[in-house]
Amino acid sequence: MSDQALAGVRVLLGVSGGIAAYKAAELVRRLRDAGADVRVVLTANAARFVTALTFQALSGNPVRSSLWDESAEAAMGHIELARWADEVLIAPASADLLARLAHGHADDLLTTLCLASAAPLSVAPAMNQQMWAHAATQANLATLRARGVRVFGPAAGSQACGEVGSGRLLEAGELVAELAAARAPRVLAGSKVLVNAGPTYEDIDPVRFIGNRSSGRMGFAIAEAAAQAGATVTLVAGPVSLATPPGVTRVDVRSAREMRAAVLARAGEADVFVAAAAVADFRPQAALPQKFKKGGAALELTLVENPDVLAEVAALPRRPFTVGFAAETQDVEAHARAKLERKGLDLIAANEVGAGRGFEAADNALLLLWPHGGREHLPRADKRELARALVARIAQLRADANGDPA
Ligand code: PMT
Repeated sequence: MSDQALAGVRVLLGVSGGIAAYKAAELVRRLRDAGADVRVVLTANAARFVTALTFQALSGNPVRSSLWDESAEAAMGHIELARWADEVLIAPASADLLARLAHGHADDLLTTLCLASAAPLSVAPAMNQQMWAHAATQANLATLRARGVRVFGPAAGSQACGEVGSGRLLEAGELVAELAAARAPRVLAGSKVLVNAGPTYEDIDPVRFIGNRSSGRMGFAIAEAAAQAGATVTLVAGPVSLATPPGVTRVDVRSAREMRAAVLARAGEADVFVAAAAVADFRPQAALPQKFKKGGAALELTLVENPDVLAEVAALPRRPFTVGFAAETQDVEAHARAKLERKGLDLIAANEVGAGRGFEAADNALLLLWPHGGREHLPRADKRELARALVARIAQLRADANGDPA
C-alpha cells in the first residue's frame, strides 16, 4: 500500500461502545498518516470507554457524540457532516450497532449519519466470539452486506473477555489497507475470474484420505481481491473451513478429479484463471469400499498420478490468462521459472513452503515471474495484501498484452 493511500479522503469515523474502542485512537493516527481528513463520532456507549478529547487531539477536529448538542450543530449540522464524508467507517462496530444499522434505526447521531450519508459505509465488527457467531448477528451482517456495506474482519484470536475465537477488531494498519483497497480502481471490471483454492482429498477408504496442509487462505484472498477489483469471480474450493468472500460464487469439491471437472467446466468462459489450489499429485488407484481393518497385515497403497488441472487449462485452445502457483522448498526461482515455461503460463506466483511458511499461515511472501524475464518480489505480508498486489499485476500484464494504457 502506498504511504498516502487515502490522500484527501474525508473519513467519518464512528466509534461504538466496546473494549476495542481504545484501538480507534491508533486508527485515527493511521488514517491521517495515510492522508485522510478524519472526523470522529462517538456513540454514548463509546464515550464510556474513551474520551472525546483523545480523538479531538488525534484527529485535529471537533468530536461529536450527540444529536442534541446545539453549539456543535450550529458549527456543522449533522446533515452537513453526513454530506461532508467521502467514507463512513465504523470501528469498532458492536453487535448492537450492527443490529441498529440493519434495521435502519436513527436514534442517535451515528446511526442518523449513516442513514443521511450517501458515502459508502464500512464496518469493522468487534465483539465476544459467541455474540459474533450468534444467528442474529450473522443475519444482521447478511442484511448489511446485501445493501453493499463493506465488512472488514473481524480477526480471530484471544479476546479481552478471556475467550478465544472470531470477534477481534482488525489492527489499525489492516483497516486502513482494507479501506484503501475498497476504494482502489476496479482494474478487473468486466472480467470473469476463476480461482481454485485449498487442498484436495484423495480417499483411501470411507474414513481415510490423503490430503495436504493447504488452508485455502491464499486462494480465498485472491478471489476476494479480484471481486474487489470489479471482476465476476467463481471460486472452486477444496475442503476448507473458510467463509466465502463477499460477491464470490463458490463451488465446493473434494478430490483432484472433482477439481478438474469443476475448473474445466468454467475455464472456457473465464478471462483469467488463478490456480492457487494444492491439488494432490497422486491418488490411491482405487478407494477401498469398506473401512480397512488393521490385523497385522501391511496396508499397501498403489498411487496413480492425478490430472494436472493447471496444465490442462493452459493447453485449452481458447484459454484464459493463466496464472499458476509454485510451492517450492528450495531453488524457488529456478524451479518456478521452469514450471512457468513447461506449462506455458502467463504468470507464476512462487512461494517458499515448509516450517510454517506458505501453507496455513495468515501471511506469505511471493515471487511473481512472467515470460521474457518479468519479475516482481512481494515481501512477506498478510495474504490479502499479497492477493491485491497479484491482482494488480495480472491487470497490468493483461493491459500490456492488449496494448491498453496502464
Ligand atoms: O492454502 P494456504 O494454506 O493459504 O496455502 C497457500 C499455498 C501454499 C497452497 C499456495 O500459495 C500455493 O502455493 N498453491 C499451489 C500449491 C501447489 O500445488 O504447488 P505445485 O508447485 O505443486 O503446483 C504447481 C501448480 O500446478 C499450482 O498452481 C497447482 O495448483 C497446479 N497443479 C498441481 C498439481 C496438479 N495435479 N494440478 C494442478 O493444477
